[in-house]
Amino acid sequence: MKPNTLLDLLGDHRVHSGESLAQQLGVSRTAVWKQIRKVVAEGIEVKTIRGQGYQLVTALDLLDQRKIVENLAKESAERVELVVLKEVDSTNAEVARKLLAPGSAMPVVLADAQTEGRGRRGRNWSSPKGQNLYMSMGLTLRGGFEGLSGLSLVLGVAVVRALNALGVTGAGLKWPNDLYAGGKKFGGILVEIQGELQEGQVQVIAGLGINVHMTEATDVDQPWTSLARYWPDHAWVRNELAASVINEVAAVMEQFENGGFSAFRDEWQGHDIFLGQPLSAKDGTLSGIGAGVDVGGNYQLDTATGRVSVMAGDISLRVSV
Ligand code: BTN
Repeated sequence: MKPNTLLDLLGDHRVHSGESLAQQLGVSRTAVWKQIRKVVAEGIEVKTIRGQGYQLVTALDLLDQRKIVENLAKESAERVELVVLKEVDSTNAEVARKLLAPGSAMPVVLADAQTEGRGRRGRNWSSPKGQNLYMSMGLTLRGGFEGLSGLSLVLGVAVVRALNALGVTGAGLKWPNDLYAGGKKFGGILVEIQGELQEGQVQVIAGLGINVHMTEATDVDQPWTSLARYWPDHAWVRNELAASVINEVAAVMEQFENGGFSAFRDEWQGHDIFLGQPLSAKDGTLSGIGAGVDVGGNYQLDTATGRVSVMAGDISLRVSV
């Protein structure tokens, strides 16, 4: 991450003269003024104080590679190759590009903004600048494609553990890939299979979007919340959250590779928002009461004719009204 951008300099919320900004950025004062106009157009409030300079008004929580690394556990710091970007099309796409030239470390890409953030089922993922966590990890797993069953559920468990490690409890998991709080979605997981390497080694990209500070969104088509909205008493710092998630993902991946989903099943069920709810699946042709997941990570319904597992995939479960 390049250190001295305009927002890095203004980030201390003091008044900076145009001249000193120009000097530190190595550009003209006119260029500084144009950059100020650009960030203001992006929704960030910067006060112009006549005769003195510019002062950042909006509280910014910028990603900072150094601060993320500082918060990583030693084992995670040794395992990951961390890249923090100002902006990217999609962090999943960036990890895919990195996997083309594989190294031994686990690539982790974070960005302050995504221009083409993607959600599941071809949906767009709202990715405003500086607001949320957009993060992708390149995972190489043994055990072929069958070994991937339950992976996204385990990642959900890792996020809940990461929140717990920050002292925040009560997050829910909605099968198969959503993170919930108070009946609303605050995050989602997008697992994309990149390909098979050799002898059953599979490469996947695990993308994680978590709404952190977001208070407005015009392009989200379902009830949503954010960490700051649902847990307003916690001082949310994206660098700390990112490090906590990386730590927990690195820890669960080892256990998942060796023992699969079954070791996480009870923990996942403890956060299941569907448990005991009347549900319908398969376009309404199947209905029953939510009964948690089986050892393969498929969702179970208790129906009039017995327990039925709904396969992970593109079948959506809904609470029936
Ligand atoms: C969902 O639809 O619920 C999954 C959303 C996943 C969004 C994340 S943000 C980081 C990563 N990059 C993307 O383009 N998508 C995932």
